[in-house]
Amino acid sequence: MLLPETSNIDPKGVLSIGGLTMEQLKKQYGTPLQIMDIAAIKKQCRDYKTCMDGQDLDAEIVYASKAFSCIACCQLIAQQGLSIDVSTGGELYIALESGFDPGKIYFHGNNKSEQEIEYGLSSGVGCFMVDSFDELDLLARLAQKQGKKQKIFLRITPGIKASTHEYIQTGNMESKFGFGIRGLGAEKAVQAALSYGSLQLAGIHSHIGSQIFNISPYEKLIDVLLKFLKKINGSLGGDIREINIGGGLGIAYTSQDKPPSIAQFADLVHDALKKYRKKHGQPIEKIYLEPGRSIVGNAGITLYEAGTIKEIPHVKNYIAVDGGMSDNIRPILYQAQYEAFLPQRCGEKPQKVYDLVGKHCESGDVLVKQAHLPIVNKGDLMAIAATGAYCYAMASNYNGQPKSAVVAVEDGKSWTWIERQQYCDLISGNRKLYEQP
Ligand SMILES: Cc1ncc(COP(=O)(O)O)c(C=O)c1O
Repeated sequence: MLLPETSNIDPKGVLSIGGLTMEQLKKQYGTPLQIMDIAAIKKQCRDYKTCMDGQDLDAEIVYASKAFSCIACCQLIAQQGLSIDVSTGGELYIALESGFDPGKIYFHGNNKSEQEIEYGLSSGVGCFMVDSFDELDLLARLAQKQGKKQKIFLRITPGIKASTHEYIQTGNMESKFGFGIRGLGAEKAVQAALSYGSLQLAGIHSHIGSQIFNISPYEKLIDVLLKFLKKINGSLGGDIREINIGGGLGIAYTSQDKPPSIAQFADLVHDALKKYRKKHGQPIEKIYLEPGRSIVGNAGITLYEAGTIKEIPHVKNYIAVDGGMSDNIRPILYQAQYEAFLPQRCGEKPQKVYDLVGKHCESGDVLVKQAHLPIVNKGDLMAIAATGAYCYAMASNYNGQPKSAVVAVEDGKSWTWIERQQYCDLISGNRKLYEQP
């Protein structure tokens, strides 16, 4: 089992997180329930900061809020001294409403609308991560209109294929993101960016993918980016001293998963910077990392109640829980693997193999295939760990399922980060058949 930082299993096999048992949390908040271990998030933030610190260049850790975002989470990230990346006007809104310093917000997105760009500019977003020529032109025009010189990074597609699921590879040349480094896309983008008086080109960015275990492509990435900087700072007439190498560090979802640690990742980054700064003669002063999953992923755990138990003799045993693909789309979207367990009966020997399925009208609504578990009874509490990233963030109301509550635990206390949706939330904004606004 991959449990959050403060997990404890007592001699009776009862799991507690942040000093609270799952039964206590269920009684107070109901199920399905997303639980976030604050200590685990703090530890990841601290590890990134300390592992990237102490070298001869500045490092800024920018939390990728697409992994999980809400007011309290943004406040926790700010309290831990990280910056934040947002990829839509909506994520920007959440960060701003949380009180996040706009100067520490990095605005991503491959199709920012005029309204989103204006929103970012007028709220004083620190940096736009520009993804296309259209955006470059529009941003330059709107920044000029507001009398601003807006700091920007250009998102570069480096032509590096990370070994991860194809839906979360973003560094290959056919990617929809960024300016291709092969061909002249990236070069032309630099020339255009340097030509606008309303933009200040401060750096280049690249994000090669997510849930990456083999981190050696990051060395290649640093080589490619610094080689390109040599051109920018040479023949293209720029003066850039900052690079952002995106996020992507993988996490363990099952006990078989052995991702590199943050320290190993940081060492590789520092070694590569040392090597390629020298090779390409580039005076890099600052590096940015954009982790999302590795900050919040293992801090989260989802609690369900077992409902219908169906045994098809000699074929399959099913346990249906009270959530499913509406709170965790990853298994059906990426064939992501998880482990299920009984948090009140940890340590009991497995006796049966079950598929843990959701309550949705899709045969693909399977959370865990072939879970080896003790005999499960209707009403038992069930849990899946490592659900802190890209689960609630991708949650839906499919089949009219209200979204779960999200609660935080720390030092024997728990409190709500996001309230459970009620049925009335499902029709909020709905109007009657011919009702005019
Ligand atoms: C531009 C960018 N930065 C950072 C991230 C965060 O990646 P991860 O959650 O894998 O660390 C993403 C995720 O897709 C991204 O698109």
